[in-house]
Amino acid sequence: MVKKIYIANDHAAVDLKNILVDYLKSKGIEVINLGTDTKDSVHYPEYAKKLAQKILSDEEALGILMCGTGIGMSISINRYKGIRAALCYNEYTAKMARAHNNANVLVMGGRVVGPELAKSIVDTFLDGEFEGGRHQIRIDMIDELVE
Ligand code: RB5
Repeated sequence: MVKKIYIANDHAAVDLKNILVDYLKSKGIEVINLGTDTKDSVHYPEYAKKLAQKILSDEEALGILMCGTGIGMSISINRYKGIRAALCYNEYTAKMARAHNNANVLVMGGRVVGPELAKSIVDTFLDGEFEGGRHQIRIDMIDELVE
């Protein structure tokens, strides 16, 4: 089980972020909160950038990133080479994001998934294991797409 998680969010996911911070801490995981803590409107790419910089500076790191839908955050953070961010709405996508895509960032929509589903998605993501093999070849190909 991972020991440390970076988490970031915009104003649309403050409530879900707080719930997940408490949940992760209750599991003994260190949580580094890089997100906004108020409902005042902010620009989500700034928070995607903060999370990307942390994940890229720590090869073992995993992150959780949230906005209203998860779409803006996933578009933003996937601009960074070495970031593999997966927008997940259920446990199956979270499982496959780790198994096939070796995702290092889980993205969720704070206006889309409820707290209990989000916890279950997080658990599935953290428990997941990359299968390697042909999937590593494809991941290497993704990095070659970045110019
Ligand atoms: C903010 O209103 C909203 O646009 C943002 O949280 C996110 O859903 C964008 O993709």
